[in-house]
Amino acid sequence: MSKDNRIIVFDTTLRDGEQSPGCTMNIKEKLEIAHQLARLGVDVIEAGFPISSQGDFEAVKLIATEVQGPTICGLARATEKDIVRCGEAVAPAKKGRIHTFIATSQIHLEKKLRMSKEQVIENASKAVALAKTFTQDVEFSCEDAGRTDWDYMVEVITAAIDAGATTINVPDTVGYCTPWQFGDCIAYLRSKVRNADKAIFSVHCHNDLGMAVANSLSAIRSGARQVECTINGIGERAGNASLEEIVMNLQVRKDFYEFTTNIKASEIYRTSRLVSKTTGMKVQRNKAIVGANAFAHEAGIHQDGVLKERTTYEIMCAEDVGWSGEQMVLGKHSGRHAFKTRLVQLGYDTLTDDQVNKAFTRFKDLCDKKKDIFDEDLYAIVEEEVQKDDETYTLDYVGFSTGTETVPTATVKLRIGGDIVMDASVGDGPVDAAFKAVQRITNIEAALHEYSLEAVTGGRDALGQVTVVLEEGGRTVRARAASTDVLVASVKAYLNAVNKLIALHNAPPQEVVPKRGM
Ligand code: KIV
Ligand code: ZN
Repeated sequence: MSKDNRIIVFDTTLRDGEQSPGCTMNIKEKLEIAHQLARLGVDVIEAGFPISSQGDFEAVKLIATEVQGPTICGLARATEKDIVRCGEAVAPAKKGRIHTFIATSQIHLEKKLRMSKEQVIENASKAVALAKTFTQDVEFSCEDAGRTDWDYMVEVITAAIDAGATTINVPDTVGYCTPWQFGDCIAYLRSKVRNADKAIFSVHCHNDLGMAVANSLSAIRSGARQVECTINGIGERAGNASLEEIVMNLQVRKDFYEFTTNIKASEIYRTSRLVSKTTGMKVQRNKAIVGANAFAHEAGIHQDGVLKERTTYEIMCAEDVGWSGEQMVLGKHSGRHAFKTRLVQLGYDTLTDDQVNKAFTRFKDLCDKKKDIFDEDLYAIVEEEVQKDDETYTLDYVGFSTGTETVPTATVKLRIGGDIVMDASVGDGPVDAAFKAVQRITNIEAALHEYSLEAVTGGRDALGQVTVVLEEGGRTVRARAASTDVLVASVKAYLNAVNKLIALHNAPPQEVVPKRGM
Protein backbone atom coordinates (compact mmCIF):
# COMPACT_ATOMS: atom_id res chain seq x y z
CA MET A 1 0.00 0.00 0.00
CA SER A 2 1.48 3.37 -0.96
CA LYS A 3 2.07 6.21 1.47
CA ASP A 4 -0.79 8.13 -0.17
CA ASN A 5 -3.15 5.49 1.08
CA ARG A 6 -2.59 6.36 4.68
CA ILE A 7 -5.40 8.22 6.39
CA ILE A 8 -4.42 10.76 9.03
CA VAL A 9 -6.48 10.23 12.17
CA PHE A 10 -7.25 13.52 13.90
CA ASP A 11 -8.82 12.92 17.29
CA THR A 12 -11.01 15.66 18.75
CA THR A 13 -12.30 13.84 21.85
CA LEU A 14 -10.70 16.45 24.09
CA ARG A 15 -12.20 19.37 22.16
CA ASP A 16 -15.42 18.54 20.26
CA GLY A 17 -15.95 15.46 22.46
CA GLU A 18 -15.74 17.63 25.52
CA GLN A 19 -18.52 19.77 24.06
CA SER A 20 -21.01 16.96 24.78
CA PRO A 21 -23.31 18.20 27.52
CA GLY A 22 -21.92 17.16 30.91
CA CYS A 23 -18.64 15.84 29.49
CA THR A 24 -16.31 18.42 30.97
CA MET A 25 -12.97 16.94 31.97
CA ASN A 26 -10.36 18.35 34.29
CA ILE A 27 -6.77 18.90 33.29
CA LYS A 28 -5.48 15.67 34.83
CA GLU A 29 -8.17 13.65 33.10
CA LYS A 30 -7.38 15.29 29.77
CA LEU A 31 -3.70 14.51 30.12
CA GLU A 32 -4.45 10.88 30.90
CA ILE A 33 -6.66 10.59 27.82
CA ALA A 34 -4.06 12.35 25.66
CA HIS A 35 -1.41 9.81 26.73
CA GLN A 36 -3.78 7.00 25.86
CA LEU A 37 -4.57 8.57 22.47
CA ALA A 38 -0.83 8.67 21.78
CA ARG A 39 -0.62 5.00 22.71
CA LEU A 40 -3.55 4.29 20.40
CA GLY A 41 -1.56 5.87 17.58
CA VAL A 42 -3.64 8.89 16.56
CA ASP A 43 -1.74 11.31 14.34
CA VAL A 44 -3.22 14.54 15.70
CA ILE A 45 -4.75 15.31 19.09
CA GLU A 46 -7.01 18.36 19.18
CA ALA A 47 -6.40 19.06 22.84
CA GLY A 48 -8.80 21.97 23.38
CA PHE A 49 -9.89 25.48 22.56
CA PRO A 50 -7.35 27.62 24.46
CA ILE A 51 -9.25 30.92 24.39
CA SER A 52 -12.39 29.34 25.84
CA SER A 53 -11.06 29.21 29.39
CA GLN A 54 -7.90 29.29 31.47
CA GLY A 55 -8.42 25.57 32.11
CA ASP A 56 -8.52 24.75 28.40
CA PHE A 57 -5.44 26.86 27.77
CA GLU A 58 -3.51 25.06 30.50
CA ALA A 59 -4.69 21.65 29.36
CA VAL A 60 -3.53 22.25 25.77
CA LYS A 61 -0.19 23.61 27.01
CA LEU A 62 0.38 20.68 29.37
CA ILE A 63 -0.48 18.13 26.69
CA ALA A 64 1.79 19.96 24.24
CA THR A 65 4.59 19.75 26.80
CA GLU A 66 4.14 16.17 27.95
CA VAL A 67 2.60 14.06 25.21
CA GLN A 68 5.06 12.78 22.65
CA GLY A 69 4.27 11.35 19.23
CA PRO A 70 1.13 12.95 17.84
CA THR A 71 0.83 16.52 16.61
CA ILE A 72 -0.83 18.63 19.30
CA CYS A 73 -3.46 20.98 17.98
CA GLY A 74 -5.51 23.81 19.48
CA LEU A 75 -8.68 25.38 18.10
CA ALA A 76 -9.00 29.11 17.44
CA ARG A 77 -11.68 31.25 15.82
CA ALA A 78 -10.40 33.44 13.00
CA THR A 79 -9.54 36.29 15.36
CA GLU A 80 -6.23 37.68 16.53
CA LYS A 81 -6.97 37.09 20.22
CA ASP A 82 -7.85 33.41 19.70
CA ILE A 83 -4.91 32.67 17.46
CA VAL A 84 -2.32 34.32 19.69
CA ARG A 85 -3.65 32.38 22.70
CA CYS A 86 -3.69 29.14 20.74
CA GLY A 87 -0.16 29.76 19.44
CA GLU A 88 1.06 30.16 23.02
CA ALA A 89 -0.69 26.98 24.13
CA VAL A 90 0.73 24.71 21.41
CA ALA A 91 4.20 26.29 21.46
CA PRO A 92 5.82 23.63 23.71
CA ALA A 93 4.83 20.79 21.33
CA LYS A 94 7.47 19.19 19.11
CA LYS A 95 4.76 19.23 16.43
CA GLY A 96 2.18 21.93 17.13
CA ARG A 97 -0.82 22.85 14.99
CA ILE A 98 -3.25 25.77 15.03
CA HIS A 99 -6.72 24.96 13.76
CA THR A 100 -8.56 28.12 12.85
CA PHE A 101 -12.09 28.35 11.52
CA ILE A 102 -14.82 30.66 10.32
CA ALA A 103 -18.35 29.88 9.18
CA THR A 104 -19.02 29.97 5.44
CA SER A 105 -22.68 29.01 4.98
CA GLN A 106 -25.13 31.73 3.98
CA ILE A 107 -27.20 31.28 7.11
CA HIS A 108 -24.15 31.70 9.37
CA LEU A 109 -22.88 34.70 7.39
CA GLU A 110 -26.22 36.49 7.56
CA LYS A 111 -27.56 35.54 10.97
CA LYS A 112 -24.49 34.84 13.09
CA LEU A 113 -21.46 36.65 11.69
CA ARG A 114 -23.30 39.48 9.90
CA MET A 115 -20.41 39.58 7.47
CA SER A 116 -20.24 39.66 3.70
CA LYS A 117 -18.71 36.83 1.70
CA GLU A 118 -15.70 39.01 0.92
CA GLN A 119 -15.17 39.86 4.57
CA VAL A 120 -15.16 36.19 5.50
CA ILE A 121 -12.53 35.43 2.86
CA GLU A 122 -10.38 38.30 4.11
CA ASN A 123 -10.77 37.12 7.70
CA ALA A 124 -9.85 33.56 6.79
CA SER A 125 -6.70 34.68 4.96
CA LYS A 126 -5.59 36.96 7.78
CA ALA A 127 -6.23 34.29 10.38
CA VAL A 128 -4.20 31.69 8.52
CA ALA A 129 -1.36 34.16 7.89
CA LEU A 130 -1.25 35.08 11.58
CA ALA A 131 -1.34 31.42 12.62
CA LYS A 132 1.61 30.80 10.31
CA THR A 133 3.72 33.15 12.42
CA PHE A 134 3.40 30.60 15.27
CA THR A 135 3.68 27.30 13.40
CA GLN A 136 4.04 25.99 9.87
CA ASP A 137 1.24 23.50 10.53
CA VAL A 138 -2.02 25.41 10.10
CA GLU A 139 -5.45 23.89 9.55
CA PHE A 140 -8.34 25.94 8.28
CA SER A 141 -12.02 24.94 8.55
CA CYS A 142 -15.09 26.27 6.77
CA GLU A 143 -17.60 25.90 9.58
CA ASP A 144 -20.97 24.59 8.34
CA ALA A 145 -19.33 23.52 5.08
CA GLY A 146 -22.07 20.92 4.69
CA ARG A 147 -24.56 23.73 4.00
CA THR A 148 -22.17 26.05 2.15
CA ASP A 149 -22.38 26.84 -1.56
CA TRP A 150 -19.60 24.77 -3.17
CA ASP A 151 -18.32 27.50 -5.48
CA TYR A 152 -18.06 29.94 -2.63
CA MET A 153 -16.16 27.33 -0.64
CA VAL A 154 -13.74 26.98 -3.56
CA GLU A 155 -12.92 30.70 -3.19
CA VAL A 156 -12.50 30.56 0.58
CA ILE A 157 -10.32 27.46 0.47
CA THR A 158 -8.15 28.81 -2.36
CA ALA A 159 -7.51 31.96 -0.31
CA ALA A 160 -6.75 29.95 2.84
CA ILE A 161 -4.22 27.77 1.02
CA ASP A 162 -2.65 30.86 -0.57
CA ALA A 163 -2.25 32.26 2.94
CA GLY A 164 -0.44 29.09 4.03
CA ALA A 165 -3.01 26.57 5.29
CA THR A 166 -1.58 23.06 5.07
CA THR A 167 -4.79 21.22 5.98
CA ILE A 168 -8.25 22.18 4.77
CA ASN A 169 -11.05 20.80 6.85
CA VAL A 170 -14.58 20.48 5.51
CA PRO A 171 -16.97 20.03 8.43
CA ASP A 172 -20.53 18.86 8.20
CA THR A 173 -21.13 20.88 11.34
CA VAL A 174 -24.82 20.12 11.69
CA GLY A 175 -24.78 16.57 10.33
CA TYR A 176 -26.95 17.47 7.34
CA CYS A 177 -25.20 15.79 4.40
CA THR A 178 -25.78 12.45 2.75
CA PRO A 179 -22.79 10.20 2.02
CA TRP A 180 -23.18 10.60 -1.77
CA GLN A 181 -23.48 14.38 -1.62
CA PHE A 182 -20.63 14.77 0.85
CA GLY A 183 -18.32 12.57 -1.21
CA ASP A 184 -19.21 14.57 -4.34
CA CYS A 185 -18.54 17.81 -2.46
CA ILE A 186 -14.99 16.72 -1.52
CA ALA A 187 -14.31 15.58 -5.08
CA TYR A 188 -15.64 18.90 -6.43
CA LEU A 189 -13.54 21.00 -4.08
CA ARG A 190 -10.39 19.04 -4.85
CA SER A 191 -10.93 19.42 -8.57
CA LYS A 192 -11.83 23.14 -8.54
CA VAL A 193 -9.46 24.58 -5.94
CA ARG A 194 -6.46 25.53 -8.07
CA ASN A 195 -3.89 25.04 -5.28
CA ALA A 196 -5.56 21.91 -3.80
CA ASP A 197 -2.34 19.92 -4.16
CA LYS A 198 -0.70 22.13 -1.51
CA ALA A 199 -2.99 20.99 1.29
CA ILE A 200 -4.42 17.82 2.77
CA PHE A 201 -8.20 17.66 2.65
CA SER A 202 -9.84 16.70 5.90
CA VAL A 203 -13.41 16.01 6.98
CA HIS A 204 -15.21 16.48 10.27
CA CYS A 205 -18.68 15.00 10.39
CA HIS A 206 -21.40 15.30 13.00
CA ASN A 207 -23.95 12.60 13.58
CA ASP A 208 -27.31 14.37 13.68
CA LEU A 209 -28.76 12.01 11.08
CA GLY A 210 -26.57 9.07 12.07
CA MET A 211 -24.41 9.56 8.96
CA ALA A 212 -21.12 10.80 10.45
CA VAL A 213 -19.10 7.65 9.83
CA ALA A 214 -20.68 6.97 6.41
CA ASN A 215 -20.03 10.56 5.33
CA SER A 216 -16.41 10.37 6.50
CA LEU A 217 -15.80 7.11 4.60
CA SER A 218 -17.43 8.51 1.50
CA ALA A 219 -15.17 11.57 1.73
CA ILE A 220 -12.12 9.34 2.03
CA ARG A 221 -13.10 7.64 -1.21
CA SER A 222 -13.29 11.09 -2.80
CA GLY A 223 -9.80 12.10 -1.73
CA ALA A 224 -9.99 13.27 1.88
CA ARG A 225 -6.84 12.11 3.65
CA GLN A 226 -7.57 13.26 7.18
CA VAL A 227 -10.60 12.26 9.26
CA GLU A 228 -11.63 14.08 12.39
CA CYS A 229 -13.32 11.86 14.91
CA THR A 230 -13.81 11.09 18.58
CA ILE A 231 -13.62 8.04 20.79
CA ASN A 232 -17.08 6.50 21.25
CA GLY A 233 -18.38 9.16 18.83
CA ILE A 234 -18.93 11.68 21.63
CA GLY A 235 -19.35 15.34 20.68
CA GLU A 236 -21.79 18.21 20.22
CA ARG A 237 -25.45 17.09 20.16
CA ALA A 238 -25.58 13.62 18.54
CA GLY A 239 -21.80 13.52 18.49
CA ASN A 240 -18.99 13.23 15.97
CA ALA A 241 -17.86 10.41 13.71
CA SER A 242 -16.60 7.59 15.88
CA LEU A 243 -12.88 6.88 15.58
CA GLU A 244 -13.20 3.18 16.28
CA GLU A 245 -15.90 2.72 13.62
CA ILE A 246 -13.94 4.54 10.92
CA VAL A 247 -10.72 2.73 11.74
CA MET A 248 -12.29 -0.73 11.87
CA ASN A 249 -14.19 -0.10 8.63
CA LEU A 250 -10.90 0.70 6.95
CA GLN A 251 -9.22 -2.30 8.55
CA VAL A 252 -11.92 -4.96 8.14
CA ARG A 253 -12.83 -3.81 4.62
CA LYS A 254 -9.36 -2.91 3.37
CA ASP A 255 -10.22 -5.04 0.32
CA PHE A 256 -12.74 -2.32 -0.53
CA TYR A 257 -11.26 0.94 0.75
CA GLU A 258 -7.55 0.15 0.33
CA PHE A 259 -6.58 2.62 3.02
CA THR A 260 -4.63 2.20 6.17
CA THR A 261 -4.14 4.16 9.43
CA ASN A 262 -1.50 4.27 12.17
CA ILE A 263 -4.02 3.15 14.77
CA LYS A 264 -3.09 0.23 17.00
CA ALA A 265 -6.50 -1.43 17.06
CA SER A 266 -5.74 -3.49 20.16
CA GLU A 267 -5.78 -0.21 22.16
CA ILE A 268 -9.32 0.68 21.05
CA TYR A 269 -11.28 -0.97 23.83
CA ARG A 270 -9.06 0.42 26.57
CA THR A 271 -9.33 3.94 25.12
CA SER A 272 -13.09 3.65 24.82
CA ARG A 273 -13.31 2.53 28.44
CA LEU A 274 -11.12 5.38 29.64
CA VAL A 275 -13.14 8.01 27.79
CA SER A 276 -16.41 6.56 28.98
CA LYS A 277 -15.38 6.47 32.61
CA THR A 278 -13.77 9.92 32.50
CA THR A 279 -16.68 11.67 30.82
CA GLY A 280 -19.38 9.50 32.41
CA MET A 281 -20.87 9.01 28.92
CA LYS A 282 -21.86 5.38 28.81
CA VAL A 283 -21.36 3.40 25.65
CA GLN A 284 -24.64 1.97 24.42
CA ARG A 285 -24.60 -1.83 24.63
CA ASN A 286 -25.19 -2.34 20.92
CA LYS A 287 -22.64 0.28 19.80
CA ALA A 288 -20.49 -1.00 16.94
CA ILE A 289 -16.95 -2.10 17.88
CA VAL A 290 -16.97 -1.15 21.59
CA GLY A 291 -20.49 -1.86 22.88
CA ALA A 292 -20.90 -4.67 25.42
CA ASN A 293 -22.96 -6.67 22.92
CA ALA A 294 -20.69 -6.06 19.92
CA PHE A 295 -19.27 -9.57 20.13
CA ALA A 296 -22.07 -11.35 21.97
CA HIS A 297 -24.20 -13.99 20.26
CA GLU A 298 -27.64 -14.65 21.65
CA ALA A 299 -29.48 -16.69 19.04
CA GLY A 300 -28.80 -20.43 19.33
CA ILE A 301 -28.19 -20.74 15.62
CA HIS A 302 -25.49 -18.04 15.81
CA GLN A 303 -23.87 -19.57 18.89
CA ASP A 304 -23.79 -22.91 17.19
CA GLY A 305 -22.23 -21.39 14.06
CA VAL A 306 -19.58 -19.47 16.03
CA LEU A 307 -18.62 -22.57 18.00
CA LYS A 308 -18.16 -24.50 14.76
CA GLU A 309 -16.35 -21.71 12.94
CA ARG A 310 -16.05 -18.21 14.41
CA THR A 311 -16.18 -16.43 11.05
CA THR A 312 -19.67 -17.75 10.29
CA TYR A 313 -21.06 -14.85 12.30
CA GLU A 314 -18.05 -12.68 13.21
CA ILE A 315 -16.22 -10.34 10.85
CA MET A 316 -13.60 -9.37 13.42
CA CYS A 317 -12.41 -10.72 16.77
CA ALA A 318 -13.02 -9.00 20.08
CA GLU A 319 -9.29 -9.39 20.75
CA ASP A 320 -8.51 -7.32 17.61
CA VAL A 321 -9.86 -4.27 19.42
CA GLY A 322 -8.39 -5.28 22.78
CA TRP A 323 -11.48 -6.70 24.42
CA SER A 324 -10.85 -9.86 26.37
CA GLY A 325 -14.48 -10.62 27.13
CA GLU A 326 -16.12 -11.50 30.40
CA GLN A 327 -13.84 -14.24 31.71
CA MET A 328 -12.97 -14.96 35.29
CA VAL A 329 -9.53 -13.44 35.67
CA LEU A 330 -8.63 -13.39 39.33
CA GLY A 331 -9.98 -14.79 42.55
CA LYS A 332 -9.63 -14.99 46.28
CA HIS A 333 -6.23 -16.64 46.12
CA SER A 334 -4.65 -14.20 43.68
CA GLY A 335 -1.79 -12.24 45.19
CA ARG A 336 -0.74 -8.62 44.78
CA HIS A 337 1.71 -9.56 42.03
CA ALA A 338 -0.95 -11.25 39.86
CA PHE A 339 -3.29 -8.36 40.57
CA LYS A 340 -0.76 -5.74 39.51
CA THR A 341 0.24 -7.75 36.41
CA ARG A 342 -3.39 -7.87 35.30
CA LEU A 343 -3.78 -4.13 35.87
CA VAL A 344 -0.76 -3.45 33.68
CA GLN A 345 -2.23 -5.72 30.98
CA LEU A 346 -5.42 -3.65 31.20
CA GLY A 347 -3.41 -0.48 30.59
CA TYR A 348 -3.04 0.76 34.16
CA ASP A 349 0.72 1.01 33.97
CA THR A 350 1.12 4.42 35.54
CA LEU A 351 -0.53 3.75 38.90
CA THR A 352 1.45 4.70 41.98
CA ASP A 353 2.23 2.02 44.58
CA ASP A 354 -0.24 3.68 46.87
CA GLN A 355 -3.02 3.46 44.26
CA VAL A 356 -2.21 -0.21 43.56
CA ASN A 357 -2.24 -0.97 47.29
CA LYS A 358 -5.60 0.71 47.82
CA ALA A 359 -7.07 -0.99 44.77
CA PHE A 360 -5.69 -4.34 46.01
CA THR A 361 -7.36 -3.87 49.39
CA ARG A 362 -10.66 -3.21 47.63
CA PHE A 363 -10.10 -6.21 45.41
CA LYS A 364 -9.60 -8.44 48.47
CA ASP A 365 -12.77 -7.05 50.08
CA LEU A 366 -14.63 -7.76 46.88
CA CYS A 367 -13.33 -11.35 46.78
CA ASP A 368 -15.07 -11.92 50.12
CA LYS A 369 -18.37 -10.84 48.61
CA LYS A 370 -18.13 -12.08 45.06
CA LYS A 371 -16.95 -15.44 43.76
CA ASP A 372 -15.55 -14.59 40.34
CA ILE A 373 -13.70 -11.37 39.61
CA PHE A 374 -13.78 -10.17 36.00
CA ASP A 375 -11.81 -7.47 34.19
CA GLU A 376 -14.90 -5.27 34.40
CA ASP A 377 -14.71 -5.48 38.21
CA LEU A 378 -11.05 -4.50 38.13
CA TYR A 379 -11.81 -1.53 35.88
CA ALA A 380 -14.50 -0.36 38.30
CA ILE A 381 -12.24 -0.69 41.34
CA VAL A 382 -9.24 1.04 39.81
CA GLU A 383 -11.22 3.83 38.16
CA GLU A 384 -12.57 4.76 41.55
CA GLU A 385 -9.18 4.77 43.24
CA VAL A 386 -7.66 6.84 40.45
CA GLN A 387 -10.37 9.50 40.50
CA LYS A 388 -9.91 9.98 44.23
CA ASP A 389 -7.04 12.45 44.01
CA ASP A 390 -9.23 15.50 44.41
CA GLU A 391 -10.94 14.20 47.52
CA THR A 392 -11.91 16.74 50.18
CA TYR A 393 -14.41 14.46 51.90
CA THR A 394 -14.21 10.70 52.27
CA LEU A 395 -16.98 8.41 53.38
CA ASP A 396 -16.47 7.00 56.84
CA TYR A 397 -19.87 5.46 57.48
CA VAL A 398 -23.35 5.35 56.04
CA GLY A 399 -26.37 3.67 57.60
CA PHE A 400 -29.95 3.41 56.40
CA SER A 401 -33.32 2.81 57.88
CA THR A 402 -35.91 2.07 55.24
CA GLY A 403 -38.78 -0.21 54.40
CA THR A 404 -42.41 -0.23 53.31
CA GLU A 405 -43.69 1.28 56.59
CA THR A 406 -40.66 3.37 57.53
CA VAL A 407 -39.73 6.96 56.68
CA PRO A 408 -36.44 6.47 54.77
CA THR A 409 -33.57 7.86 56.82
CA ALA A 410 -29.84 7.94 56.21
CA THR A 411 -27.02 8.71 58.63
CA VAL A 412 -23.74 9.76 57.04
CA LYS A 413 -20.30 10.28 58.58
CA LEU A 414 -17.71 12.01 56.42
CA ARG A 415 -14.04 12.51 57.06
CA ILE A 416 -12.50 15.88 56.23
CA GLY A 417 -8.84 16.22 57.05
CA GLY A 418 -8.55 14.69 60.50
CA ASP A 419 -12.15 15.46 61.50
CA ILE A 420 -15.32 13.44 61.30
CA VAL A 421 -18.58 15.23 60.56
CA MET A 422 -21.92 13.49 60.89
CA ASP A 423 -25.51 14.28 59.94
CA ALA A 424 -28.75 12.49 59.16
CA SER A 425 -31.71 13.19 56.93
CA VAL A 426 -34.99 11.74 55.79
CA GLY A 427 -35.87 11.60 52.12
CA ASP A 428 -38.17 10.19 49.45
CA GLY A 429 -36.10 7.04 49.56
CA PRO A 430 -32.81 5.94 51.14
CA VAL A 431 -30.72 7.35 48.28
CA ASP A 432 -32.46 10.73 48.46
CA ALA A 433 -32.04 10.74 52.25
CA ALA A 434 -28.31 10.03 52.01
CA PHE A 435 -27.78 12.67 49.31
CA LYS A 436 -29.54 15.21 51.53
CA ALA A 437 -27.35 14.27 54.49
CA VAL A 438 -24.22 14.76 52.36
CA GLN A 439 -25.61 18.11 51.20
CA ARG A 440 -26.12 19.23 54.80
CA ILE A 441 -22.59 18.28 55.79
CA THR A 442 -20.78 19.72 52.77
CA ASN A 443 -23.04 22.73 52.14
CA ILE A 444 -22.91 21.90 48.43
CA GLU A 445 -26.45 22.47 47.14
CA ALA A 446 -26.17 20.94 43.71
CA ALA A 447 -28.99 19.88 41.40
CA LEU A 448 -29.02 16.18 40.59
CA HIS A 449 -29.40 15.95 36.80
CA GLU A 450 -28.78 12.28 36.34
CA TYR A 451 -28.67 9.16 38.45
CA SER A 452 -28.16 5.75 36.94
CA LEU A 453 -27.33 2.33 38.23
CA GLU A 454 -26.05 -0.67 36.33
CA ALA A 455 -24.51 -4.01 37.07
CA VAL A 456 -20.84 -4.13 36.08
CA THR A 457 -21.03 -7.85 35.22
CA GLY A 458 -23.68 -10.55 35.25
CA GLY A 459 -24.67 -12.48 38.39
CA ARG A 460 -26.54 -11.62 41.58
CA ASP A 461 -23.31 -10.75 43.35
CA ALA A 462 -22.31 -8.22 40.65
CA LEU A 463 -20.90 -4.83 41.55
CA GLY A 464 -23.51 -2.09 41.09
CA GLN A 465 -22.04 0.98 39.43
CA VAL A 466 -23.75 4.30 40.03
CA THR A 467 -23.24 7.40 37.88
CA VAL A 468 -24.44 10.81 39.02
CA VAL A 469 -24.41 14.19 37.28
CA LEU A 470 -24.52 17.24 39.54
CA GLU A 471 -24.86 20.86 38.52
CA GLU A 472 -24.00 23.82 40.68
CA GLY A 473 -23.74 27.43 39.50
CA GLY A 474 -23.52 26.47 35.82
CA ARG A 475 -20.83 23.83 36.39
CA THR A 476 -21.68 20.24 35.67
CA VAL A 477 -19.72 17.23 36.91
CA ARG A 478 -20.14 13.49 36.55
CA ALA A 479 -18.86 10.84 38.87
CA ARG A 480 -19.13 7.12 39.39
CA ALA A 481 -18.66 4.59 42.14
CA ALA A 482 -19.17 0.87 42.49
CA SER A 483 -20.00 -1.46 45.34
CA THR A 484 -21.83 -4.73 45.84
CA ASP A 485 -24.22 -2.61 47.94
CA VAL A 486 -26.01 -0.22 45.59
CA LEU A 487 -26.90 2.22 48.37
CA VAL A 488 -23.25 2.55 49.33
CA ALA A 489 -22.31 2.93 45.65
CA SER A 490 -24.87 5.74 45.37
CA VAL A 491 -23.46 7.68 48.31
CA LYS A 492 -19.88 7.22 47.12
CA ALA A 493 -20.74 8.38 43.59
CA TYR A 494 -22.54 11.43 44.96
CA LEU A 495 -19.60 12.23 47.22
CA ASN A 496 -17.13 11.84 44.34
CA ALA A 497 -19.19 14.39 42.40
CA VAL A 498 -19.31 16.77 45.37
CA ASN A 499 -15.51 16.50 45.69
CA LYS A 500 -15.18 17.37 42.01
CA LEU A 501 -17.36 20.46 42.51
CA ILE A 502 -15.24 21.51 45.47
CA ALA A 503 -12.10 21.09 43.35
CA LEU A 504 -13.69 23.41 40.78
CA HIS A 505 -14.40 26.03 43.50
CA ASN A 506 -10.72 25.96 44.33
CA ALA A 507 -9.66 26.41 40.70
CA PRO A 508 -8.83 29.98 39.60
CA PRO A 509 -11.73 31.91 38.02
CA GLN A 510 -11.96 31.50 34.26
CA GLU A 511 -12.89 33.77 31.41
CA VAL A 512 -15.58 31.74 29.72
CA VAL A 513 -16.08 32.02 25.99
CA PRO A 514 -18.80 29.96 24.31
CA LYS A 515 -17.23 26.69 23.16
CA ARG A 516 -17.99 27.53 19.57
CA GLY A 517 -19.48 30.25 17.45
CA MET A 518 -18.37 33.82 17.07
O1 KIV B 1 -18.29 21.07 13.74
C1 KIV B 1 -17.53 21.98 13.41
O2 KIV B 1 -17.74 22.71 12.45
C2 KIV B 1 -16.34 22.18 14.22
C3 KIV B 1 -15.33 23.11 13.67
C4 KIV B 1 -14.76 24.00 14.69
C5 KIV B 1 -14.29 22.33 12.95
O3 KIV B 1 -16.18 21.57 15.26
ZN1 ZN C 1 -17.52 19.78 15.31
